Amino acid sequence: MNGKKYSVVIAGGGSTFTPGFVLDLIKSQDKFPMRQLKFYDNDAERQKKIGEAVKIIMKERAPQIKFSYTTDPKEAFTDVDFVMGSIRVGKYHMRSLDEKIPLKYGVNGQETTGPGGMAYGLRSIPAIIQIIDWMQEYSPNAWMINYSNTIAIVAEACRRLRPNAKVINICDMPIDDMDRMAAICGLNSWHDIDFNYYGLNHFGWWKEVRNKKTGEDLMPKLKEYVKDHGYWVGGEYDKNTEASWEATFKKVADDYKMDPETLPNNYMQYYYFPQYEVANADPKHTRTDEIREHRQKIVFGECERIVKAGTAKDNIWDISGLHSEYIVDIIHAIAFNTHEKFLANCPNNGAISNMDPDSIVEVPALFGADGIQPMATGKAGRFQRGLMMEQQTCEKLVVDAYVEHSYQKMLQAFALNKTVPDASVAKKILDDMIPVNAPYWPELK
Ligand code: NAD
Ligand code: LMR
Repeated sequence: MNGKKYSVVIAGGGSTFTPGFVLDLIKSQDKFPMRQLKFYDNDAERQKKIGEAVKIIMKERAPQIKFSYTTDPKEAFTDVDFVMGSIRVGKYHMRSLDEKIPLKYGVNGQETTGPGGMAYGLRSIPAIIQIIDWMQEYSPNAWMINYSNTIAIVAEACRRLRPNAKVINICDMPIDDMDRMAAICGLNSWHDIDFNYYGLNHFGWWKEVRNKKTGEDLMPKLKEYVKDHGYWVGGEYDKNTEASWEATFKKVADDYKMDPETLPNNYMQYYYFPQYEVANADPKHTRTDEIREHRQKIVFGECERIVKAGTAKDNIWDISGLHSEYIVDIIHAIAFNTHEKFLANCPNNGAISNMDPDSIVEVPALFGADGIQPMATGKAGRFQRGLMMEQQTCEKLVVDAYVEHSYQKMLQAFALNKTVPDASVAKKILDDMIPVNAPYWPELK
């Protein structure tokens, strides 16, 4: 403890993850003491629904922390130590189109992978760069922890456009997979696991998984389980898991067979089996619709209930979520210089010995007051290196398209992607995406 009390702003205050994160921040006051919490969003109405409920939560549980929400950047980014990046540019309306336009042409339609992921990345770049600039102007000592997708593309844009900014791009998906590994091995949580992992975001492999306390190699046990069940745990552990996630975690059994030496990130299915994904998708009812009917409804319904009741007693967020718990762990490590190991999306600089220094990779890093120190993970297998070279080139081409306002580069990004079978299909998807993305993308010429 250093006696300091911290000020945090959540950019994307209207995010469905906000209330859970706030509850985890409140619960962590002995670990990460705060004096102020602010929300910032560019959709006043959406943020207000969450903001009013959180006002009640804060009054009941943490009246010592000053709370406010605003759409004014100066007010939001002044006097803060941490900026949490949780925005979705274009919201669920655009996510729905990211999923449904590719499916129209028989191509995988997914939030962060394939053409949809690249479209989303291109939308996020200017908004994230703007938030970084506000942070640097109004609170130059602050750190931004960004988990707004598409992380790989946002991280490449940060590397090129704001190389000295205090921003760390993270993802919670590997934590979810590791928590499942812990459950499979009879351990309590991902905190009990030590690991070596390498790849790109939503595109990586575990080389080593060990029991953190005893050092026991857990890979043999995990491989035996994963080859039949993937990362599906079932029972009490999965009692609230949505149907599409059940299918995803089970599919890891097939992903694993592509390289039985390592354990895959569950997102590999979109690259290994794009045809299976398309065959099992309903182009009229995608993941966006599922979230609208499930998570979004629950979160906004609960906020409304709290505001009506005037109390947040017995609210649904009293059970910690992995996502918010992980983010609290990360800001704690930076605030208190603990040098704990988490995964970061950062320039390679030798972390994967046979990838270029300027590749954005997802690797273990030590988190402390000066930011991150990426760790050496060794050499990528030939198969993995080939896959990564293709995927990261797509990500770089999207940033080229942004910087140069280039239609050609965006077309190349789509055509190169492993999920797209043919350049003429890439062109059709891109041409459908351009008009609907006009409010967010640069004009591609
Ligand atoms: P959401 O749509 O519920 O909320 C996002 C909020 O961002 C909305 O209130 C919206 O108005 C706001 N917003 C959009 N553009 C903005 C801008 N330019 N400035 C300020 N606010 C803006 O989204 P969600 O489902 O809660 O997800 C939030 C983000 O977190 C997304 O980017 C999602 O992809 C990402 N996510 C990341 C991880 C990870 O670990 N990396 C995990 C889950 C979700
Ligand atoms: C989410 O919104 O939960 C995602 O970020 C991942 C997904 O597809 O559900």
